[in-house]
Amino acid sequence: MGSVLTGFSLRRATESDRTYLSRLFFLTDVFGDESQPVGDGYLEDLHRYVGSWTPEQGGAIALSPEGIPAGGVWLRHGPDRPRFGYVAADVPELVIAVENRYTRHGIGSSLIDAALNLARARGHAGVSLAVDFGNARARALYVKKGFVSAGIREDLGCEAMIHRF
Ligand SMILES: CC(C)(COP(=O)(O)OP(=O)(O)OC[C@H]1O[C@@H](n2cnc3c(N)ncnc32)[C@H](O)[C@@H]1OP(=O)(O)O)[C@@H](O)C(=O)NCCC(=O)NCCS
Repeated sequence: MGSVLTGFSLRRATESDRTYLSRLFFLTDVFGDESQPVGDGYLEDLHRYVGSWTPEQGGAIALSPEGIPAGGVWLRHGPDRPRFGYVAADVPELVIAVENRYTRHGIGSSLIDAALNLARARGHAGVSLAVDFGNARARALYVKKGFVSAGIREDLGCEAMIHRF
């Protein structure tokens, strides 16, 4: 458990991954259920989470042995941050999704490790995230990876969580 599937690899996210990050952001919004409509304010959230991301903020893409994109994680810090998972300026917020066909094989866990390692190497105080009410699957993984609650945000429909280094 927790180790990435044999033959899968992670590589750094680059500018050319921006469209794929939009795809992953969609998966986060619908909790991986692609039959669902996106939530209110989706376009503004997409802009803040993906449009305002730059490769320097960091991210990783998971690839199957055949090179099929399997998921990814990216960090948001700097200007134009969303409010959902904001805890402090020196604590970037991570965003993560894994393609449904590849879930429950440790890819999510490996992607979180990659984001934590990146933030630690850059001297950040920790990493935060936002988990929407009802996304129990994601929340369970975050707890397993050492995240604790940083506050319930009733008005935003989510809980902020933090992993402090
Ligand atoms: C949440 C999400 C990122 C988790 O990704 P994942 O790759 O499935 O995560 P992992 O496989 O590392 O861990 C998840 C579970 O699979 C289990 N698992 C890990 N390897 C496994 C294996 N080889 N066989 C079976 N189960 C396995 C883990 O133990 C964990 O189990 P749990 O239910 O007890 O917590 C993924 O479900 C997802 O993208 N969901 C939709 C988007 C989303 O909601 N994003 C988060 C927004 S806040």
